[in-house]
Amino acid sequence: MSTPGLPPLEPADEARIDDLLQAMTLQDKIEQMWQINGADDANVALVRDGCIGSALNVAPDRVDAIQDAARASRLGIPLLIGRDVIHGYRTVFPIPLGQAAAFDEALVETGARIAAREAAEDGIRWTFAPMVDIARDPRWGRIAESLGEDPVLAARLGAAMVRGFQGTLRAEHRTVAACAKHYVGYGAAEGGRDYNTTLIPDTELRNVYLVPFHACANAGALTFMSAFNDLNGIPTSGNRRLLRGTLKATWGFDGFVVSDWGSITEMIAHGYAADAREAAARGIAAGVDMEMVTTAYRDHAADLVADGTLDGAWLDDAVRRILAVKCRLGLFAREGVARRAHPATHGCDEHRAAALQAAAASCVLLKNENVLPLGTGARRVALIGPLADDGADPLGCWAPDGRGEDSVTLRAALEAALRERDGALRYVRGVDTCRSTARDGIDAAVQAARDADVAVLCLGEEAIMSGEAHSRAFLNLPGAQPALLEAVAATGTPVVLVIMAGRPLCLTDVLPRAQAVLYAWHPGTMGGPAIASLLLGETAPSGRLPVSFPATVGQVPIYYNKRNTGRPPGEHNRGIPQGTPLDPVGFVSNYIDADHLPLFPFGFGLTYTQFAYGTPCVAEACIAPHGTIEASVPLANMGPCTGTEVVQLYVHDVAASLTRPVRELKDFQRVTLEPGEETMVRFALPVSALAFTNADGTHRVEPGRFTLGIGPDARCPMDVSFEVV
Ligand code: GLC
Repeated sequence: MSTPGLPPLEPADEARIDDLLQAMTLQDKIEQMWQINGADDANVALVRDGCIGSALNVAPDRVDAIQDAARASRLGIPLLIGRDVIHGYRTVFPIPLGQAAAFDEALVETGARIAAREAAEDGIRWTFAPMVDIARDPRWGRIAESLGEDPVLAARLGAAMVRGFQGTLRAEHRTVAACAKHYVGYGAAEGGRDYNTTLIPDTELRNVYLVPFHACANAGALTFMSAFNDLNGIPTSGNRRLLRGTLKATWGFDGFVVSDWGSITEMIAHGYAADAREAAARGIAAGVDMEMVTTAYRDHAADLVADGTLDGAWLDDAVRRILAVKCRLGLFAREGVARRAHPATHGCDEHRAAALQAAAASCVLLKNENVLPLGTGARRVALIGPLADDGADPLGCWAPDGRGEDSVTLRAALEAALRERDGALRYVRGVDTCRSTARDGIDAAVQAARDADVAVLCLGEEAIMSGEAHSRAFLNLPGAQPALLEAVAATGTPVVLVIMAGRPLCLTDVLPRAQAVLYAWHPGTMGGPAIASLLLGETAPSGRLPVSFPATVGQVPIYYNKRNTGRPPGEHNRGIPQGTPLDPVGFVSNYIDADHLPLFPFGFGLTYTQFAYGTPCVAEACIAPHGTIEASVPLANMGPCTGTEVVQLYVHDVAASLTRPVRELKDFQRVTLEPGEETMVRFALPVSALAFTNADGTHRVEPGRFTLGIGPDARCPMDVSFEVV
């Protein structure tokens, strides 16, 4: 059996694996199922004297030493060296949430391929990405690392990253094994607090959270990573039904599963194992093939096999999977593991150009009251804010090998661009850091704004405010930044607000104070030039939101593909008068002190032109379950310049054996039109895409009426209907 997206192993590799398994002692097999951290002398000795399977976080100048030790070991099995190459290696791309805003598979595939190329030059052949956890809660710090709230978007982009990382594998030797993580449901952490409990009904698990993982398996991901969270009472790193069952048996995945850092022994803290011995038994029995950094397997697996608790065949299977990945990567040939003494591609122009393109495509224009793009009238620009003059924070929360000094800041990029236009830029920090509360720098910013034609404020979050273990209970602009914005806005100088953040922030109070808002996420090494090119109109914004933006944190979790409820939210009944009689007027799913709608919906984003949609239609009103939905919509560029629209197709299952989301994204296309150009955008959606797993675990399309909408975001009307008969 081989993972659907991968060719079968070559016979020579099969033979090599059989021979090695024959030669391996039980202890060898157990050590092959272990990943150590770093390559200090003690670890190099462990590798030389043993049969260690993998190492992560190996400094480039220690790669050859530890691989030579592996080669010198009794069986000479090379190490698989892993690293978190999440959104770039030396050349850093936008955070994955930002990349998702591009709605562009080719773009993220290119970014992954570049990351793999640079990492492989340092002897890294395994990355712990793509992270395809569905994230509906912006309080959760790791939303930054996710591909957003939608299963179809995350599935398509996650699969594209797998292809980018792995390429054609051994033929190039500058590829890395992908790792779909964190399997599964990690993003549903209660309260948005990282590592917290997750309670997900099985139908929701299969119809939402597992979808992008299945896509990664089908794309040929060589590895998966089990997660930290307990899911419905069972830690995902001890969940046999989902690992040996769904992933390996049902999906046919024949790569290997690595635990997340310490997640095997954390089953003790979860209360799912009494001690490390039981944790090892749980992990191996569940199908976690390799233990990351902790030593429960190493310390207890032999005893567990000896006393019959564990079937030795499970260890053989795990080792076979690990060795198969090493064969597919070509590690047994020396060039498969060696590092380049002088990495040729780290930060090269080609890679930086791709990072610039990705950063420009990931920015989302949220508001523009005729102030962008900056024209000849904006010669004197006041640039304000700590993030505008910072090379490190814009790299985001997961770029351990990126370097701030490689970045081109927004200040440097805008200064250079304005100089070419005989413009002038004056930079004022305004506040010391994103979180500092001191306001003594605001006056200088106000003065700079008064003397300028336009004030560009670059505000947001430091990189460390998102990412692992960095969840927030509030979603406001931190520190004295709101006061800085308010003071600059009060000057009357037009304000362009550029936000760099690792999550959606609540912009309700911010929006009125800016004439334009550009959301740049954490845009990576080339974020500065990308943002400058957008502000000056050299590039037109095309990003769309991969997550809903809440109006207030009290709405969270908020996502577009929600259920309708029996009392769908109606007109807002805010300000219910005191003494109102308790008659059931306005008894619908609302808040009395806030709107129920997001501030900005999933899929939203402005451009510098205007697109007009005609009436969508489907070719047939009745379609067989094995048929195809032929949908189309006229689209015209009515504005003054070329633009790219992300045309989104949504479907709703009106009545089914489960309540279904009010709409689900089923397809999307990026369409670029010249001014005045018109086109017919066509979709061919297999009816099978409407299938869902129902309460008895059957995955099928249920006949009945569906509605369909095609438009610019998750608010588009669902004004077409058809029947599946
Ligand atoms: C971390 C993260 C995981 C990462 C791993 C190795 O705790 O949860 O995403 O790949 O450990 O650094």
